[in-house]
Amino acid sequence: MFEHFDNPRQLLEYRIGSAISMEQDSLSMLGELEQAAQSEDIKEMFRHHADETRHQMKNLDQVCQELEISAAEEPSQTTKGLSREGTSLIRKSDESLLDSVVLSAALETEHTEIAAYQSLICLADALGLKQIEELLTENLGQEQHTSEELYSKLKTVSAAV
Ligand SMILES: [Fe+2]
Ligand SMILES: [Fe+2]
Repeated sequence: MFEHFDNPRQLLEYRIGSAISMEQDSLSMLGELEQAAQSEDIKEMFRHHADETRHQMKNLDQVCQELEISAAEEPSQTTKGLSREGTSLIRKSDESLLDSVVLSAALETEHTEIAAYQSLICLADALGLKQIEELLTENLGQEQHTSEELYSKLKTVSAAV
């Protein structure tokens, strides 16, 4: 999109592109984690967040429309790395550890998403883009809520192993 950034608007546009691929990576990862999860309630947690993720992608489309940019995707190296790490741990782990493994993998992804949205919100706020800030804040709230649910579940599952 840009070779060199010299203003916050360019940075925001580029990082929205990264957020789009971050959400795509998250969505495919949620499907993989759901398959590997052993407990039905954990599978349901991942299905619910996959629905939220689809909604987040629509919000990002809306952000692109507001910015009058095409939804150019910039690869998110972080979520691609987390996805590879999650897949590898699933393969290496005994069934009895899989719920703990998938919850940890999801939690790490949520923390990445939270940081990405917090950074985007700061840029949108600095540029006075209120509507965009609201859309990003809705996504952030879903990631934060999911992160809390995952952490709580991970503590329960870990205590039981
Ligand atoms: Fe997300
Ligand atoms: Fe998420």
